[in-house]
Amino acid sequence: MKLRRTVLSVPGHIQKMHDKALNSDADAVMLDLEDSVPFDSKTDARSRIIQSLLSRNWTEKTVLFRMNSLDTPFGYRDILEVIEAAGHVIDAVVIPKINAPDDVHFVSRMLDGIELSKRWNRRIGIEASIETATGLEHVSEIAASSSRIHTLVFGVADYSASIGARLISLSGHGEKESEIYPGHRWHFAMSRIVMAAKARNLQAIDAPYGNFRDPEGLTRSAAMACALGYDGKWVIHPDQINVVNLAFTPSKEDIDRAGRVLTAHKEAVSKGLGAVAVDGRMVDQASVRLAEQLWENATRLGLV
Ligand code: COA
Ligand code: MG
Repeated sequence: MKLRRTVLSVPGHIQKMHDKALNSDADAVMLDLEDSVPFDSKTDARSRIIQSLLSRNWTEKTVLFRMNSLDTPFGYRDILEVIEAAGHVIDAVVIPKINAPDDVHFVSRMLDGIELSKRWNRRIGIEASIETATGLEHVSEIAASSSRIHTLVFGVADYSASIGARLISLSGHGEKESEIYPGHRWHFAMSRIVMAAKARNLQAIDAPYGNFRDPEGLTRSAAMACALGYDGKWVIHPDQINVVNLAFTPSKEDIDRAGRVLTAHKEAVSKGLGAVAVDGRMVDQASVRLAEQLWENATRLGLV
């Protein structure tokens, strides 16, 4: 699975931002045709995205493009035009406002047709954006609906609108939330999405934090997502990339601790023991699984 600690959303119609994104440290770049693009610029944005994808070298990035939802006049044509022209460079299509598996089936069948006609061997993935009440209700069926699905993404702003939640800030979750709700207002939705994702071995990606001049709030928001099992977070501004990359990168302390757990476990097994003590804490099979996951993640990032 490709890295997605940071997924930088880039408005499709602003081509200079495509280059900025390509040269950034974001793991993934999502060229957007949906909500960051004005209605009158949808067609122009498609051409600009195609042009950027074909004329630059994107091999270092996870490349995503977000189509318009299927209940708009743009969605089907976004897939047809962008995938036919540049699908060989795209890792996955992000489908916004997914409500049910039908939405995934429709996009997947269109991708089947294009891949067959182009004789491509690689399969383009799908990222399902869960941002409606109906989508959350069907999240497990959506996660299981196609082997093309790589990730589930939480879209907090549209989800808030969908359930009629009070608008407290423009930043998505994290900012000023504690003023109106004790605890974490999006805990249920976020955990529900992680559970559905991980049950299918998919990545879970958190919504962006809109206040791009608030690194402390962003750090808190990313740390909470990471603590809940998320693999990464969307960002909407280059200044957010380093903060979020760091939040989703295991620290040296975490890696060292995982190393001690794995070594102690190996020794315990060789002596026929089960649970053992490390740093005054009990370590058993469950702790070993956690340590192995962290080690695997650190290895993928070249840290061990
Ligand atoms: N991707 C790539 N480059 C970006 C960027 C993005 N998402 N957001 C800003 N930049 C670039 C700007 O072009 C500018 O480049 P320059 O210095 O070469 O001129 C630089 O980063 C600094 O930008 P800044 O002036 O601080 O921001 P802004 O006022 O131009 O834009 C936003 C602010 C929020 C409008 C802009 O960041 C944006 O459009 N973000 C994406 C929104 C989006 O995708 N929404 C949908 C997903 S939820
Ligand atoms: Mg949305």
